[in-house]
Amino acid sequence: MSAAPPDLRFDGRDRFVRAVDAAVAHGDAHAVTAALRGALCGLIADPQVRLPACIHAPIADRYARRELYRSPGYGYSVVAMTWGPGQGTPVHDHSGLWCVEGVWSGSLEITQYALVERDAERFRFRAAGGVRAGTGSAGSLIPPHEYHTIANPSPDRTAVSVHVYQAPLLRCARFVHERDEWYLRTDAALGLDALD
Ligand SMILES: [Fe+2]
Repeated sequence: MSAAPPDLRFDGRDRFVRAVDAAVAHGDAHAVTAALRGALCGLIADPQVRLPACIHAPIADRYARRELYRSPGYGYSVVAMTWGPGQGTPVHDHSGLWCVEGVWSGSLEITQYALVERDAERFRFRAAGGVRAGTGSAGSLIPPHEYHTIANPSPDRTAVSVHVYQAPLLRCARFVHERDEWYLRTDAALGLDALD
C-alpha cells in the first residue's frame, strides 16, 4: 500500500519519463491526454522500454495495481494494472482526474456509462458503448465523462495496462448495481500492490 519508490528502476525508465513529461507539459487536459495517448503507444512499441517483470503476475482474486512512477514535478502517477482472465472492475469514476490508459499486453474491454439521472447516492447509468482495446492501443478519460468498467474478457490470457493519472488516484466512487439501470454509489479506497 505504498507509492513507487523514487529509485524504482526498469529498462527504458528515463525514456518513459521523458515521453510522459513532454506530453503532460501541454497543460490543458484535452491536449495532454491526446499527447499522452501518442506517447503511450510509442512506449508500448519501444523495445528499449521493459517494465518490471512483476507487472505480468496477476493476483488471484482481483486485478493488481502497481505504481511504477510518481512525478515530483508534474504530480502525475503511473500505475500498471494486471488483469487475470475474467477479472475486471465495477462501474467507477476517477474522482475528477483525467487518465490515459495504454494496453501493454493482451486486450481489454472498456465500456463507458452515461449518467442519465441521479437521486442522492443512487445513480442511473446507461451503457454508452464499449471498445475492445488491443495491445498497443491507448484511450483516455476526461471528466465529467468518466464512468466506465474495464475487464479482461479472455478465458486464459492475462492482460496488462499502464495508466497515467493526473494525480495519484487514492479513492474513487464505485457503483453497485441495484436493478435495471440503477446503481448505488459507494466510496472506495484504492490500494497499491507490491512491486515484487
Ligand atoms: Fe478506471
